[in-house]
Amino acid sequence: MENIDWRNLPFGYIKTDYNVRCYYRNGQWGELEISSSEQVSMHIAATCLHYGQESFEGMKAFCGKDGKIRVFRCADNARRMQASAACIKMQEPPVELFVEAVKKAILLNRRFVPPYESGASLYIRPLLIGTGAAVGVKPADEYLFMVFVTPVGPYFKTGFKPVNVMITRDSDRAAPLGTGHVKVGGNYAASLPAAEQAQKAGYATSLYLDAKEKKYIDECGPANFFGIKNNTYVTPQSHSILPSITNNSLMTLAKELGIKVEQRPVEATELSTFEETGECGTAAVITPIGKIFDPQTNVTYRYGEEAGPVSTKLYHLLRAIQYGDEPDTHNWVTII
Ligand code: PLP
Ligand code: COI
Repeated sequence: MENIDWRNLPFGYIKTDYNVRCYYRNGQWGELEISSSEQVSMHIAATCLHYGQESFEGMKAFCGKDGKIRVFRCADNARRMQASAACIKMQEPPVELFVEAVKKAILLNRRFVPPYESGASLYIRPLLIGTGAAVGVKPADEYLFMVFVTPVGPYFKTGFKPVNVMITRDSDRAAPLGTGHVKVGGNYAASLPAAEQAQKAGYATSLYLDAKEKKYIDECGPANFFGIKNNTYVTPQSHSILPSITNNSLMTLAKELGIKVEQRPVEATELSTFEETGECGTAAVITPIGKIFDPQTNVTYRYGEEAGPVSTKLYHLLRAIQYGDEPDTHNWVTII
């Protein structure tokens, strides 16, 4: 692509050539369709517009040194979309349909996959919406599953440099027994006030605490939180946290590097004990955290101006597997 500045891509939307779509109607999924339109036409009473029947996923495809395109843990994202769909009573797209749609969307837009040297990637956004009409609150009888792609740079413009975050104390992203553990649009709507509040105060994003007691760490912006101390990778466990595929990969890699892993409730008071902290996710990859500000106590926890050694090691190893520079011993990568 002649006119894309691959090295300076933001995390945003760039029009690509095609997207793929599949309709669920009359009790079955149809054929995958290719579209060059950025528009979706639907019924004015579609349940996604009124009652939040929507789920999405996020993945990345990478161009290797060898010119091959690799997509990371696609079937795991398919299974997570199934869990999201089941949670809000939507029709689950079969894993094979999801994977085929992702492959097709990448191949049809292969000229938008950023080159190896750029360090950028092709972001893949599958989404599922209730399109059947309903006025009473009930699940739709028709669904539309779509996949679009767009080339992206780092989620935080600093890339692999520490960002500062602020603890949120006056709103919640997800209720204790709500939908925080799945990837549905309503969670992100609920996160907007906290994100705006943090950004207005000069922070990159917000660190959520558990909704019930405001005692435990939940998530960090649209990413999971982790802390490092005493050669241990610590990450919170709770029903309202999205099970991040990146975090799951990092826990596996950490163990292989001889780092202990603890996934358990993490009290906010423990923030003072970490040597390194960070957030992890498809978009965020690993984004180290430099400072965490607690507006209630006025305390700022500091972790340094540069990424710590454990976060750095994990970041480079994960990226090397994703780009095909290190062997894929876990079968995480699908070559397209
Ligand atoms: N937590 C939230 C709320 C997210 O939106 C995401 C992004 O998908 C993550 C965590 C990270 O999940 P993953 O690593 O599977 O992208
Ligand atoms: C991702 O990491 O893929 C996400 O979905 C985060 C996003 C909401 C920007």
